[in-house]
Amino acid sequence: MGKLFRRTAMCGELSIKNAGEKVVLNGWVAKQRSLGSLIFLDLRDKSGIVQIVFDDTLKEELFKLAESLRSEYVIGVSGAVRERSSKNPDMATGDIEVLADNLVLYSKADTPPIYVKDDDNVDENLRLKYRYLDLRKLRMQHNLKFRHKVTKITRDFFDENGFTEIETPMLIKSTPEGARDYLVPSRVNRGQFYALPQSPQLFKQLLMASGCDRYMQIAKCFRDEDLRADRQPEFTQIDLEMSFVEVDDVLTIQEEYLKRLFKETLDVDIELPLMRLPYDEAMERFGSDKPDLRFGFELKKLNDVVAGTEFKVFADALASGGDVRGICIDNASDKFSRKDIDKLTEQAKHYGAKGLVWIRFEKDEIRSSVNKFFSQEELRKIGDVFGACENDLVLIAADRAKVVFDTLGFLRRHIAGILGLLDDRDFKLLWVTDFPMFEKDDETGELKAMHHPFTHPKNEDLHLLDTEPEKVKADAYDIVLNGVEMGGGSIRIHESDLQQRMFRVLGLTDEECQEKFGFLLDAFKYGVPPHGGIAYGLDRMVMLLAGENSIREVMAFPKNQNAQCPLSGAPGYVEKEQLDELGIELIPEEEQ
Ligand code: AMO
Ligand code: AMP
Repeated sequence: MGKLFRRTAMCGELSIKNAGEKVVLNGWVAKQRSLGSLIFLDLRDKSGIVQIVFDDTLKEELFKLAESLRSEYVIGVSGAVRERSSKNPDMATGDIEVLADNLVLYSKADTPPIYVKDDDNVDENLRLKYRYLDLRKLRMQHNLKFRHKVTKITRDFFDENGFTEIETPMLIKSTPEGARDYLVPSRVNRGQFYALPQSPQLFKQLLMASGCDRYMQIAKCFRDEDLRADRQPEFTQIDLEMSFVEVDDVLTIQEEYLKRLFKETLDVDIELPLMRLPYDEAMERFGSDKPDLRFGFELKKLNDVVAGTEFKVFADALASGGDVRGICIDNASDKFSRKDIDKLTEQAKHYGAKGLVWIRFEKDEIRSSVNKFFSQEELRKIGDVFGACENDLVLIAADRAKVVFDTLGFLRRHIAGILGLLDDRDFKLLWVTDFPMFEKDDETGELKAMHHPFTHPKNEDLHLLDTEPEKVKADAYDIVLNGVEMGGGSIRIHESDLQQRMFRVLGLTDEECQEKFGFLLDAFKYGVPPHGGIAYGLDRMVMLLAGENSIREVMAFPKNQNAQCPLSGAPGYVEKEQLDELGIELIPEEEQ
């Protein structure tokens, strides 16, 4: 290698204060413009970009070298910082430039397949394939540093509050968090498999049984599930567990943590205590267990107002025990054409809705899709439930409760997006509490734990556990930020007899319990403290704080929508010998 120009400054940190100083910079060529006897070059490192000037004061061979520089070449340059005659207000370092007096080329670069430019609108798979180019973008560098800052504040805060960071294993027996496991075959124990942890749930509970008292871990988790903007097969949790606590204790310390996090990362003051919304109320008012509180449009139940109606859609819904509910979009009826409403109706169908009734409150008239069935007075009565006035638009869905909530919950947020009400610098945090202990699996109709089977039912509901389990509420809570579930946790069952009862309600036989969770039940025989905890999705948290709309923007090497890594080509086929060693034979797809 040629000579290394030992760096004395970072590109993005130079300012007018450095004028007159001699500096040595190392970095990538962002742009080069040759104007004959003058060359302008933008040099980039992780801190930012600065303009370098080469002129005829430079040795001829170096000037020639400067002329040959292309995008993404890696160079070292030395020179004097000077004030620019024509300043660039769009550039952080736009007041100054560096007049080069020496130059070294470290490495050349082929024409890059993607531009290293923050606003480059390139296909995401291409970005992921050339992630090392993509990560050179200053926005991505900022996100990586920002994520580091979040983890550092997190570690510091919990360290100061008596938490010990403890690593838990990656090769484990399956943890039931509700997703499919990633399996790892064991060579030494032929025919047997490890699972990658969906979360450290059981181990953190064992750590409480081990007397660790307060545990935290920045933990990798793996879930084989359908991917979305805020879901990856491999993601990171800030995982926490505490002994001798009740719900209030957990929430209080988490609130202090969140306050500090927002202050130190964004200088945003969060007011404590945070709002606590019981699950039932969240559903009633927002149609969602992760309500976005940045705007209104609350749901209203219309069952009473429309009772006795001849309109078949409503009458049928009510007769079959369903609901008629609506939302009111205030002062925006004129922003939605008939076509727009048809489009909303189509989108609502993805949530199970069979249609949408609309009512427009206009100056002299109330217009609606159900004018045939409702008089002006009846429509006015519906409007009164919302306090509707001129230019309001009411949208109504009628169906079983789940469909109505899902539909209106979606519409509420979707319409807020259309109206530009989703300010990503407005942070509305809240706890959703008192979740149902169980929910019915949509496909199998079987009862399953809404959080996980180690969650403590509310003491006052324990008597319903065997008879009316669907009515049982749990000591479980989620932390929600702007419509995203950022984290969730619960107080755990620490009584082995109750844990066994819970497994039975979930339909596990005693043998299955023993085989799957025997080790936990055993541990609970030898003295276990009451305990509880929470886990935040670190990726989601950083995404929201950084104002990004996908967690892939805050992960260095995420997978694409097909759970592939376009960069490394994972997952890939393996050699037959590797499979033989594991005793695994692949069945061709057509035979499956
Ligand atoms: P839960 O399953 O709710 O709880 O997960 C906690 C948080 O992790 C994040 N998260 C994800 N982030 C990205 N991609 C995914 N596929 C993904 N899945 C979950 C979410 C979620 O709120 N052991 C319990 C916690 C506890 O009870 O203490 C657990 O894992 O932000
Ligand atoms: P129709 O009688 O089919 O013309 O429907 C009259 C109105 O009811 C239309 O605006 C439909 O979109 C709406 N509609 C149909 N099914 C439902 C439903 N389940 N909930 C709310 N509106 C519906």
